[in-house]
Formats: sequence, structure tokens, C-alpha cells
Amino acid sequence: MRTVHTVSELRSVLESANDVGLVPTMGALHAGHEKLIEAARRECRTVVVSIFVNPIQFGPNEDYSRYPRTLDEDLEKCDRLAVDLVFAPAVEEMYPLPQLAFVEVARVSEHLCGKFRPGHFRGIATVVMKLLNIIQPDRAYFGEKDLQQLTVIRRMVADLNLPVSIVGIPTVREPDGLALSSRNKYLTADERKVAPALYRALQEAAGRVRSGERDAMNVRNAGLRVLGEQSVIRVEYFEIVDPEELQPVTIIQRSVHIAAAVWIGKTRLIDNILADAG
Ligand code: PAJ
Repeated sequence: MRTVHTVSELRSVLESANDVGLVPTMGALHAGHEKLIEAARRECRTVVVSIFVNPIQFGPNEDYSRYPRTLDEDLEKCDRLAVDLVFAPAVEEMYPLPQLAFVEVARVSEHLCGKFRPGHFRGIATVVMKLLNIIQPDRAYFGEKDLQQLTVIRRMVADLNLPVSIVGIPTVREPDGLALSSRNKYLTADERKVAPALYRALQEAAGRVRSGERDAMNVRNAGLRVLGEQSVIRVEYFEIVDPEELQPVTIIQRSVHIAAAVWIGKTRLIDNILADAG
């Protein structure tokens, strides 16, 4: 495995590569990231993992500076998973000039997390566009855990005719249902105990849809009741949305996504589930 830190080195290493799969990450790799890398390893001749904590997707009061950075361990994991190339640029390498060009994916970016994290998806779409242009992969792998991110990227690729296939990978969970996330490290032992309520609430809501409930408000309330049992959990949003553009649905007529963000103490967790309306 080779690790490179500059765009020019990366370009020369990949010059003759074909069938390239890219797994973009911010490091602090866990079993969720590993699932993406394993899928890329199965499907592509050359596997590239990028590790870059992207400053422009963090708001001014968010966790950019305390985001976990574990490069040595990440490189070991990548090596063990037979990754060919790790691209780990410094901030100055990715943003040598003040960034003036951005990619904006309207509507899909505006609800859910977008409402509470202004500029977040613009920062993600922009860095992913840069990574796609730098690495020029045939396939790029993203987790369904970050549903809105995956939807924004898919729409960017479709609307801008980017020559890459986007592959979505199902969410990897702990045995108690908590979705793996680099931010789970922030939870105290007591907070970690209540965290699975988020997935339980989503399952409860999805169960209502599956058993015939069509009023999104009732579905939402069923989920909120589960979260309400935990006094340390503060709900940021709990929404029933359509799969294409993630817009709120009032009457459920077909499959919907149920997406939620909660705060447990100082930690913000997100998760989502697909509810099949049969
Ligand atoms: P990061 O949070 O490191 O996640 C990298 C990829 O791993 C994302 O596609 C994310 O959806 C996926 N992932 C995270 N947890 C997962 C889980 N439990 N199961 C399956 N997949 C999971 O997402 C980002 O980085 C950044 O926004 C990035 C796309 C790299 C742009 O900066």
C-alpha cells in the first residue's frame, strides 16, 4: 500500500491505473468505513481511500478541531484491507487558495441536517467534487448511514453528468442497533447506554408504516414517544421524507425514509431507516 499527501504525486501514481474505486472518508476508520472499503476491494482493480477532515463542511461552532484524528491506525486498517493507495492531503493541499468555487445541490440539501447545519452539504458536495476530479474514479462508495449526503452526491453526479457510479452501502450497526460513527467516541458510558433509543425509535416508526399507518404525523409521533422516554435525548428533527428529494411527506403512499438527528449531551447523532409501504 502506498500513502500520498499531494495531488501531483497522486496523479502520477494513478496515471496508468484503470478500474479505480474511491472511498472518501474523514478517517477515524471503523467497521462502517471498512464495509465500504471491502465492497470497493471486491468490485475494483485499484482501491483508493481518501482521509481528509474537510474544514468547509463544519460550521463555526462545530467539532472540526476536536474531530478524532487517528492516521496511523487508519493506515494500518487500510493496509490490512488491501487498499492500494491512501490519499491523505493537508488542508493547504486541498485548499491552497481561498476557495471561491462551490457546488450547491438545491432542495435536497435544504431540509433535515441542512436546516440545522447551513453550508454543510455545500462543503461536502464541493470536497467530493474535488476528490472525484483529482482521483477520477470509476466508482465511489458512500454509506446509507448519511442518507442526505448520499442523496446530495447522487444528485450532483446526475445533474452535472459526472462520469462516475455512486455505490450506496447499508449501515453497519453495533449489536444493540447504534449505527457506527466516528462521533460515537464522544459519548460517555451513560450516554452510550441510551444511544440505541435512536434506532429503536426509527424501527418503531417504520413498523407503523409497514403495518398500514399512512398518516406521517402518527408515524412521527410513534417514534418521538420512544425518544421521549430518555430524558437526556434532545430531538433535533424526526422526519418522514420521500426517497428522491428528501421532502416531507404527509400521507404515505409508497416507501419513505425516516430520518432523525438527536443530541445526547454534547454529541449529535444521526440515523435513518427505509420504511416499506408495501
Ligand atoms: P465519514 O464520516 O468519515 O464517512 C465516510 C463514509 O463512511 C461515508 O460515506 C459514510 O456514510 C460512511 N459511513 C459512516 N458510518 C457508517 C456506517 N455505520 N455504516 C456504513 N457506512 C458508514 O462522510 C464523510 O466522512 C464526509 O462527509 C466525506 C464524504 C468524506 C466528505 O468529507
